[in-house]
Amino acid sequence: MTYILGIETSCDETAAAIVKDGTTIVSNVVASQIDSHKRFGGVVPEVASRHHVEQITLVIEQALTEAGLTPKQLDAVAVTEGPGLVGALLIGIQAAKAFAFAHQLPLIGVHHIAGHIYANALENPMEFPLLSLVISGGHTELIVMQQDGHFEKIGETRDDAAGEAYDKVARVLSLPYPGGPHIDRLAEQSDGAVEFPRVWLEEGSYDFSFSGLKSAVINYQHNLQQKGQEINPSHVAAGFQQSVVEVVVEKTRRAAEEYGVKQVIAAGGVAANKGLRSALEATFEKQGIPFYVPSLPLCTDNAAMIAAAGYSKLIAGERSDYAMNGRPGMPLTSWTRL
Ligand code: KG4
Ligand code: ZN
Repeated sequence: MTYILGIETSCDETAAAIVKDGTTIVSNVVASQIDSHKRFGGVVPEVASRHHVEQITLVIEQALTEAGLTPKQLDAVAVTEGPGLVGALLIGIQAAKAFAFAHQLPLIGVHHIAGHIYANALENPMEFPLLSLVISGGHTELIVMQQDGHFEKIGETRDDAAGEAYDKVARVLSLPYPGGPHIDRLAEQSDGAVEFPRVWLEEGSYDFSFSGLKSAVINYQHNLQQKGQEINPSHVAAGFQQSVVEVVVEKTRRAAEEYGVKQVIAAGGVAANKGLRSALEATFEKQGIPFYVPSLPLCTDNAAMIAAAGYSKLIAGERSDYAMNGRPGMPLTSWTRL
């Protein structure tokens, strides 16, 4: 049995978890700071770092207590190395280094998006080749994995990430931060939808673009305002969501077909979106390709996913050294060769 301590502090959650054999959650502790950032309408990096400093030791201790394990029983420490806010990343990394050094454990730096992808391994076995739709506050990407630890990015956003667009549109509608879940709820309950454009880009492209859609929503609101008319927030939310979902689902479907994958998985905060989940489920049921999306707490930032990806790196022989630094713009690179 292999127990890995995972640590995640890349944004606004301070998280520690222990995962057995890369697949079984033994403990999973997340201290959210959302309430501290809400009044600013977004994450304030300095505030995030201060919270991480206050919480990190407590969160690691709690993960060990809930697991009923001592540090001696652990086999490695995995920590988010990037991308993310550098001051936030560094706190998790320093804690991981100190813990690994004190208990003489291997240290493994993990890419945050690899973590989101491997959140799936905690609930269903990953079968290769697979297609992963990564859709979060910082990323919107289609990634083909021919095997464990191998990533080929076939498409990505050229401007805003989907979650960023959700949060910006939510701000236009005066909804609280983070706006994604609020738009989701409004869209679900809506009895109508404003028609917004679909951005497909060049034929055959798996890239995305959401900034034009965001501008279309802002223009729509301004136009109505100038005419002295009220907007219907539910109709705007529903129209925006329909545009995002239609494009994301269709590009994912086409990619799954072209690459002949055995499995499609979704990952990241926006994968928590009810409209997106049900559209993906319906599409792949029709296609006859197994589709999985993590349960809600494993879609948003957590440390169990970092431990799960860390396990794949550990068995591939990957190790980080004590020179590891926070890498805000870290690229996702493969740790196995085809
Ligand atoms: O993966 P995540 O927790 O953090 C990043 O790594 O970015 O994703 C956060 C993003 C936020 O933009 C949030 O608004 C969005 O995920 N989100 C949602 C939903 N729940 C969270 N977006 C749409 N619908 C949701 N239900
Ligand atoms: Zn994330």
